[in-house]
Amino acid sequence: MKSGPTASRVSRRSDTTAETNERVTPVLQRTNLEISNVETAMRSSRFGQWFSQHCRRIPWRDRMLALIVKVEGGQLYSTTLRAALLRWYDVEVGPYSYGSLLIPGNADRHTVIGAYVSIGPNVRRFGAAHPMSSLSLHPFWYNPALGVVPIGSDVPRTAISIGHDSWIGANVTILPGCRKIGVGAVIGAGSVVTKDVPDFTMVAGNPARTIGTRLTESERDALLDAKPWLLPPAEAARALISIRDKPRG
Ligand SMILES: CC(C)(COP(=O)(O)OP(=O)(O)OC[C@H]1O[C@@H](n2cnc3c(N)ncnc32)[C@H](O)[C@@H]1OP(=O)(O)O)[C@@H](O)C(=O)NCCC(=O)NCCS
Repeated sequence: MKSGPTASRVSRRSDTTAETNERVTPVLQRTNLEISNVETAMRSSRFGQWFSQHCRRIPWRDRMLALIVKVEGGQLYSTTLRAALLRWYDVEVGPYSYGSLLIPGNADRHTVIGAYVSIGPNVRRFGAAHPMSSLSLHPFWYNPALGVVPIGSDVPRTAISIGHDSWIGANVTILPGCRKIGVGAVIGAGSVVTKDVPDFTMVAGNPARTIGTRLTESERDALLDAKPWLLPPAEAARALISIRDKPRG
């Protein structure tokens, strides 16, 4: 995988249910955070690995991919989905993230989605606009994929990094002007995001404007320090709990 906010440590670790319960339960009793008895490690399959490497051009690939994702426990856990999105669409997705931007084709290329990101239904991310200063706006005259203009004529396409543990509400449109959504940020339902969104900031509306900031300054600092989104779920829970239980002056 390329560099980016994807949590490499999370993807390599696998925490068993027994380990999870043994380490986390005593601390959980003092909080309302809970970990249920499910296996939370990312899941892969040999067929999935082979499929993502060799089936890029087959007509039924998206239906087959959907089946493999189901077998691997869904979007939250499927490593084949992540491999296919990266290889076929240039969309990088961190562990435990889920939602409509993980549906092939919903995010333009150069999209990097962090770990533990929640994405509501019908979210789209666009990395380019039709060329407004050109005589014609039709993609025939700028998109080499359509075979009319030579490679290299494409419009500029922006990249975006969507921060760990952010939440994007339903029906959000992210336009090319937004290149970064910060960690822990919230995008309100139906928003049209035209600019960067700082860490822990809540934005909403069309165009999206700041409506608030999440958490206290010391909680935000503690999260940025502990980076629970780089940890597998059991360890992340412990990190969150220790922040929550820290005595405040
Ligand atoms: C963004 C959100 C989390 C804010 O919730 P909240 O903190 O309870 O905010 P409030 O309802 O108190 O609204 C605060 C202000 O922002 C405005 N606002 C909130 N959400 C908005 C939205 N989606 N679009 C436009 N304005 C919005 C409110 O009108 C209010 O404005 P005012 O202060 O001028 O009256 C919530 O409104 C939202 O959009 N959630 C997404 C739900 C969703 O998509 N779920 C499915 C996917 S999981």
